[in-house]
Amino acid sequence: MIGIFDSGLGGLTVLKNFLKALPDYNYIYLGDSARAPYGGRSQDTIYCYTKEAVDFLFARGCELIIIACNSASSQALRKIQQEYLPQKYPGKNVLGVIRPLVEKVAEDKNIKRVGIIGTRATIESNAYKTELKKLNPDLEIFQKSAPLLVPLIEEGWNRRPETKSILKKYLRPLKSKQIEILILACTHYPILFKEIKKIMTKRCRVLDSGEIIARGLKNYLARHPEYRVSPAQNTCVNFFTTDDAERFRVMAKKFLNIDVEKITKVCL
Ligand code: DGL
Repeated sequence: MIGIFDSGLGGLTVLKNFLKALPDYNYIYLGDSARAPYGGRSQDTIYCYTKEAVDFLFARGCELIIIACNSASSQALRKIQQEYLPQKYPGKNVLGVIRPLVEKVAEDKNIKRVGIIGTRATIESNAYKTELKKLNPDLEIFQKSAPLLVPLIEEGWNRRPETKSILKKYLRPLKSKQIEILILACTHYPILFKEIKKIMTKRCRVLDSGEIIARGLKNYLARHPEYRVSPAQNTCVNFFTTDDAERFRVMAKKFLNIDVEKITKVCL
């Protein structure tokens, strides 16, 4: 069983792609909606919340956990992998979303100028920048935090002109640097994929994060038989939220057309 953790609903953009690329598994999705958004929180807080999520998912029988949340992947994952797992869950692993995305960018040797948008926590951590530079020190990297996008998406304002103009304002400084590729370093942003692509024009490739993360997990499972997760007869996804279950169900349908059948409200 594979555990997917996000600060709230956004990680469903990742789950959707897992179900397509890896349909033969069971999944547990945990959204910490009661404490979302994580994007404006401190590193200590994000680490504490992420540890609780990891405990919850391992206790429910997950063999591997994916932290779909970019803010948690950039502020907490390293400490979880280096300190928490060896001490509390030796032999188990937790993966994030940064690695597959930076590998994808670095594999194209023609790319020189990379743009990244994400929450404040993600951008201020410099996690993407650091990982990209490790793979290709010659890359020029331009980052922009876009804190208003998550609340706008959660309000269902995706198609509103106000959102479009805020999006334009966030993307303008990246566009002016003539970036060749843009990383959407936040679970929610793929919901605005079409709008972002339109603003960036054909000259800049916009990465479809969920698809790349799912492909990354597929490769990882093939390369690491020691973490091989047991496949399932009939795929089933169990959803858990720390906030109102009905609201989660409605939002999942509205934004991602996902039918949430089994959902339980929990306290972490
Ligand atoms: N899931 C978060 C991320 O990818 C976005 C929402 C939040 O700020 O919690 O960074």
